[in-house]
Amino acid sequence: MAKPSTVFVCTSCGSQTRQFFGRCSGCGSWNTLVEQKAAPAADNRRRRPVVEPVEGAGSGQPRRSEPIQAVGERPLQRLSSGYGELDRVLGGGLVPGSLVLVGGDPGIGKSTLLLQSACSMAGRASVLYVSAEESAQQVKLRWRRLAQSGLGDPAGDPEVGADFQLLAETDLELVLQELEALRPAVAIIDSIQALHDAELGSAPGSVAQVRDCAAALARIAKRQDTALLLVGHVTKEGALAGPKVLEHLVDAVLTFEGDRFASHRLLRAVKNRFGATHELGVFEMRDRGLAEVTNPSELFLGGDEPSAGTATIVACEGTRPLVVELQALVSTTSYASPRRSATGIAANRLHQILAVLEKHLGLPLSRFDCYLAVAGGLEVEEPAADLGVAAAVVASYRDLTLPPGTVLVGELGLGGQLRPVGQLELRLQEAARLGFTRAVVPKGSGLAKAAAGLGLQLLEAGGVAEALVAALGVNPADDRA
Ligand code: TYD
Ligand code: MG
Repeated sequence: MAKPSTVFVCTSCGSQTRQFFGRCSGCGSWNTLVEQKAAPAADNRRRRPVVEPVEGAGSGQPRRSEPIQAVGERPLQRLSSGYGELDRVLGGGLVPGSLVLVGGDPGIGKSTLLLQSACSMAGRASVLYVSAEESAQQVKLRWRRLAQSGLGDPAGDPEVGADFQLLAETDLELVLQELEALRPAVAIIDSIQALHDAELGSAPGSVAQVRDCAAALARIAKRQDTALLLVGHVTKEGALAGPKVLEHLVDAVLTFEGDRFASHRLLRAVKNRFGATHELGVFEMRDRGLAEVTNPSELFLGGDEPSAGTATIVACEGTRPLVVELQALVSTTSYASPRRSATGIAANRLHQILAVLEKHLGLPLSRFDCYLAVAGGLEVEEPAADLGVAAAVVASYRDLTLPPGTVLVGELGLGGQLRPVGQLELRLQEAARLGFTRAVVPKGSGLAKAAAGLGLQLLEAGGVAEALVAALGVNPADDRA
C-alpha cells in the first residue's frame, strides 16, 4: 500500500498525525493541525557530527558526570548591544552562546532594532547579519540611513562597522557554513521563518522547518559561543509563530510591541534564562531609526492641564516605575445595558472596580456608560492601577478635577479595602522625580519618612472611600446619589 504523502502537523506542539482532527491529540489545542508534505525519513540523515561543547573534557572522551563543585566556572561576560534599553531587557547585555528570540508584529521595527544594535556592536565584536527576508541592497540602504542619522551607530561614522558581515540568504545549509567559517561573536537571523532547509520537503515557515532550522542554529551557536538573535513572527492571535518547542529551545524570548498609530515601541522579556522577565525597554520610531526613550514616564503623561476624569498612577514594569495618566468618561446611558469599554486595562478589572464603587460608595454607576483609556497606548496589567481607575471614574462621574500633582497607587479588594502593592518606594521616587507632590497609597506602607524626604505628601488610606476623599478633597458619596 502506498504511504500517504501528507501528514497533519500541530502548529502548537509539532506532533504529527496521518489524519485530520479538530483537536490535536498531542497537546489538546483546537484547530492547530495543518497539512504538510511528509518529510523524508529525517532521522537517517545527519548534517554533521554533533559535537557538544564540553568544558574540561578532552576531545573524544565520553562525557561523565562530575561533582558540582568541580564544574569549571567561567565569568559571564556580557556584550552590550549599544542600547541601554535593550541591555536592560536582556538582563545586562548579550550572553555569549545564548539564543534570543525577538518576536513582534510585521513592521513594528524588529529588523531596524537588530540592525542598529548590530552596527553598534560591530565596533566591539564581530557580527554576522543574515537577512533572509530582505535583499542585501535593501539592508545596505537601511544601514546607510541609520548610520547617517547617528542612531544606528552611536559613533556616527558609517565606516566604523568594519567587522559587520552581511549575508542575504535563505538556505540553512549556507547560513550554517558561513557561521562556521566566520565564527562571529554575534549572529542575527532575520527571520527564522524565512530560513529554509532544502532537505526537508515542507515549505519555509512550516513547523518542521522552523524547528529544524532553529535546532541546527542552536547547536552551532552553543558550540562556538556565538550569541544568536533570531527574529520571529507572531500569529494573528499575537503568539509567536512556529512550534512551542522554539520557545523552549531559546534562552530568552523578547517581544517588541507598540501601537501602529503611536511612535513608541515597547520591548519586553517574556522568558529570560539570564535575567529578570517583565523588564521594559522603550524606544521611539523616528524617520531615521529607533531612538531610546530613557524617560518614558513623560511619554505616558498627558502633559495637558488636569481635567475632570483624569487620574495619574505609577505602574511598575519589572523594576521600572512608569507614571501613567488614566482618563475616564462616565455619562448617562441611552442603552438598555450600559456600555463599558477599557483601552489598556482589562475590561474585567474595570467591571470589578465599577461594582466596588457602586456597592461601597453607593454610586449608581450601572445607569451610566463608562469608558476608560490609558494614555500613550500602554497596557497596564497590574492591580496597583485599581485606585487610579476608581479615582478617574469617580472624578468623571462627579465632574471633579483631582488636585494637580496627585498620584494614586493601590489595589482594590472586593470588600472596598485598599491592598498594599509592591515596590511602593520605587514608585514614589519616580513620582517625586517628575514633580508630583501628593501620593495616595494603601495604609501601613511605613514610608512616611521616605516620602517626606522626597518632598511628597503621603496620604494613607485603608479603603477606597477614604482614599477618594483624601485624593479629591470632597466626599464623592455625598448628595446626588
Ligand atoms: P522593520 O524594522 O522593517 O519592521 P519588522 O522587521 O519588524 O517587520 O520596520 C519597518 C517600519 O519601520 C516601517 O513601517 C518603516 C518604519 N521605519 C521608520 O519609521 N524609520 C526608520 O528609520 C526605519 C528604518 C523604519
Ligand atoms: Mg523585518
